[in-house]
Amino acid sequence: MIDNYRKLCARFYDIHHPIPPADEFAFYRDILREVDGRVLEPMCGSGRFLIPLLKHGCDIYGFDGSVDMIEACRNRLNEDERIQLATFESFHSPNAFQACIIPAGSFSLLADARAAKQALACIHRIMVPDGVCHIEVCGTPCNSTGATDINSRTVKTAAGTALTLIEMASYDQEQRVETIHCHYIECTERLIVASDLEIYQLRCYERSEFAALAEASGFTVVNCVHNAFNGDNSIFTLMPNRTVNPAP
Ligand SMILES: C[S@@+](CC[C@H](N)C(=O)[O-])C[C@H]1O[C@@H](n2cnc3c(N)ncnc32)[C@H](O)[C@@H]1O
Repeated sequence: MIDNYRKLCARFYDIHHPIPPADEFAFYRDILREVDGRVLEPMCGSGRFLIPLLKHGCDIYGFDGSVDMIEACRNRLNEDERIQLATFESFHSPNAFQACIIPAGSFSLLADARAAKQALACIHRIMVPDGVCHIEVCGTPCNSTGATDINSRTVKTAAGTALTLIEMASYDQEQRVETIHCHYIECTERLIVASDLEIYQLRCYERSEFAALAEASGFTVVNCVHNAFNGDNSIFTLMPNRTVNPAP
């Protein structure tokens, strides 16, 4: 499994991002409305998109590599069969999927080129031949100067504690990778009751670079919406190209 998105991160995420942004949710709801078959959301987290899409009648399934995010999703979903604790390496399903979505730029968390290729190979393998997938990837971050950015946010937990995230982000222009150090601190009025440090990295793609990666992984790029919701991000629509068999 993955070694970030642990307990404090998962708790902070659910309080800070309890529901998806309305425009992003409407985008995925509308493109999935016509899908007749199973939909997969890899990296589904605690179900911010998956659960409301399910409520809109979408036959959606998900997996995520974080024990704590999947646990939060299970608690909200009240059922087990739709979601799996898995990474792209370990995910298995007896059924093929008609559509696949990875919203919110999560694909960029696969910052290592090998991991990104492996993820696309997994998606290719589990889709029906005429399936469609929609993957949002990050473009250049707001602060792309290479200088370090520090900010903090505090949320109130249901237990009445304050949960603070201090984030330190820097961008490597050459590698096109943003590294974000996250320090989570949970406090009562007098005490620090828990703290955790996490690091994650985001690969920022040129549009041509992601298109080349998708094509090398056996997909045809059928559309690309740039700058849809999140800054410089792009949403790619891909279809498996059955003449190519991507390496596992
Ligand atoms: C930014 S969150 C987004 C979750 C959800 N899509 C949403 O919008 O709320 C990214 C998710 O990707 C998951 N993740 C990161 N790397 C992963 C991997 N290699 N395999 C599976 N899940 C992964 C994390 O556990 C986390 O839940």
